[in-house]
Amino acid sequence: MNPDLPLQLLGGLSAREFLRDYWQRKPLLIRQAKPGFESPISPDELAGLSLEDEVESRLVVEHGEQPWELRRGPFTEETFQDLPERDWTLLVQAVDQFVPDVAELLKEFQFLPSWRIDDVMISFAAPGGGVGPHYDNYDVFLLQAHGRRRWKIGQMCDNQSPILPHGDLRILADFQQTDEWVLEPGDMLYLPPRLAHFGTAEDDCMTFSVGFRAPSAAEVLTHFTDFLAQFLPDEARYSDAASEPVEDPHQIQRDALVRLKALLDEHMGDERLLLTWFGQFMTEPRYPELVSGTEVEEEPFLGALEDGAVLVRNPSARLAWSEVEDQLVLFASGQSRLLPGHLRDLLKLICAADALYLDNLGPWLADDEGRTLVWELVKQGSLEFADD
Ligand code: SIN
Ligand code: CO
Repeated sequence: MNPDLPLQLLGGLSAREFLRDYWQRKPLLIRQAKPGFESPISPDELAGLSLEDEVESRLVVEHGEQPWELRRGPFTEETFQDLPERDWTLLVQAVDQFVPDVAELLKEFQFLPSWRIDDVMISFAAPGGGVGPHYDNYDVFLLQAHGRRRWKIGQMCDNQSPILPHGDLRILADFQQTDEWVLEPGDMLYLPPRLAHFGTAEDDCMTFSVGFRAPSAAEVLTHFTDFLAQFLPDEARYSDAASEPVEDPHQIQRDALVRLKALLDEHMGDERLLLTWFGQFMTEPRYPELVSGTEVEEEPFLGALEDGAVLVRNPSARLAWSEVEDQLVLFASGQSRLLPGHLRDLLKLICAADALYLDNLGPWLADDEGRTLVWELVKQGSLEFADD
């Protein structure tokens, strides 16, 4: 993909310009980012998804005296029959994992690393519906899919920004509006993390939120150190060999801190372990139970491919690859595999192709390591036969 090509999705900006001037920094309104866009899912189908056990959904209902009541799914048919005419929003998480046509939309975001993508959340709101003024810690592209939504944006926030005393929803007590637009189908609004925003449905309206994720510094430190600790023997300890005699035995001297920092650097500075942890962490599926894998012997597995079977990525799996010196590493749904350098094109194919079958896999099936890799990914559940 040429990063200097103007993209319709970005209102004619190139990926390079967008990353330089807007990403993580400034909001961007893009009129007709997707001209003629029609939602691949209807409001009824969205409501249908929210009845399913494995789907994460929420309803935000606004009331006069007790504004913004949050209910969590799964819901029932009656839930929807009992809703008022106006002022409520249904939000369904990770619809891309359940509706392939929604996952297709993510292909338009390939100018960003796929491992930064969280999910496509879809909201349906009755007229007047909205989830209140708030901020998120993530980048989001809000694509209007049906009806019209009025978006107001405000100030940059942080965890000191006053929040209304409201159990589950983090509604801002103070919203300082800076801009306001009505989005029509096909229009899109990019919001950087921490920017206050407030959307209200003008009529029956559906909005797709393509959300990104970034681990917090606290997550990186706690998870990485937990991961590292597994490899550290008990005898790897603070050491003060060759130290000077102490002046006051009750004082912790600077020299101890220097030794501690050296201990941290020695272990935390291992780039290979850092990459292994990071790749595993970032490819951890949102719903690990949906990447369950299957028992299949090598012979029937190869036989099926030879008979024309098609492999696809499990929509709940996450894949990424990287280089380690002259080797490669594939991260698949929280696991990593070190692989020889000659498999580079296979790794790229596995991460990017819509489907894997005899024609595009052919040469790789004749390679012991290539064949084993594809087979293991099927057993692990990151790849699956298309008709499963
Ligand atoms: C919505 O689509 O109603 C809410 C999206 C958001 O503000 O994050
Ligand atoms: Co938001």
